[in-house]
Amino acid sequence: MARQTIEVRIKRQDSPTGATRWEEFSLPYQPSMNVISVLMEIRKNPFTKDGAKTTPVNWESSCLEEVCGSCTMLVNGKPRQSCTALIDSLGEGVVTLEPLTKFPVVRDLQVDRKPMFDSLKRVKAWIPIDGTYDLGVGPRLSQSEQEINYAFSRCMTCGCCMEVCPQYNDRSDFMGPAPLAQVRLFNSHPTGRMNAHERLEAIMGKGGLVDCGNAQNCVEVCPKEIPLTEAFGELGRQTTVFWLQTLLQK
Ligand code: SF4
Ligand code: SF4
Ligand code: FES
Repeated sequence: MARQTIEVRIKRQDSPTGATRWEEFSLPYQPSMNVISVLMEIRKNPFTKDGAKTTPVNWESSCLEEVCGSCTMLVNGKPRQSCTALIDSLGEGVVTLEPLTKFPVVRDLQVDRKPMFDSLKRVKAWIPIDGTYDLGVGPRLSQSEQEINYAFSRCMTCGCCMEVCPQYNDRSDFMGPAPLAQVRLFNSHPTGRMNAHERLEAIMGKGGLVDCGNAQNCVEVCPKEIPLTEAFGELGRQTTVFWLQTLLQK
């Protein structure tokens, strides 16, 4: 018999410090829905499966094409983007939605990824430019350098890698895989290299590279297939060279 309904179970939390509860919803099946379109249907008619009126579910999204990372949540226990999580690909069982567990919950499925953005600031994950006027032609990059940098530039700060990293938790200072990978990117850019030593100092300190336990969960879950462990290897080389140079200068 053709599928009639979509059954959804959602972990709800009204405020950052509020208690959590589970609510179940049942919607008429429509082909080609994704998790976000299911959430939008629930928002139109916020009644639980038992017919109780509830509040519309809160979540965050923007691009709807797996570029911004903001819609990331646990879908059936796995961190992924809800905009590209197609209901038809999730099987016919109940779809379970929960917020990521490594970031503070704002409300329902929306989390605050600020800790990750703070770490990106700490490692200066940007290219400094002097004003916004035309600076002329920039330094040239070889094809192979462009390919490496492109891979790292695809990070959308979704937080999937942070979610599965056993070392990234509220008992540790570890900054996590995504900010480290951006050090790899900006240190290999000809202009970004000007601040390479500051970035290396940041990751040689507390909560930096040395706290990575090399479990490699991060690289397996990254939706952009960013070579995270390759980045950590290269950063290990860069920090060792920098440390030796510092020693020799003393
Ligand atoms: S490295 Fe991958 S998993 Fe981690 S935040 Fe970036 S895109 Fe997401
Ligand atoms: S290799 Fe393991 S410990 Fe290191 S960042 Fe990735 S998941 Fe975390
Ligand atoms: S809405 Fe941007 S990645 Fe899903």
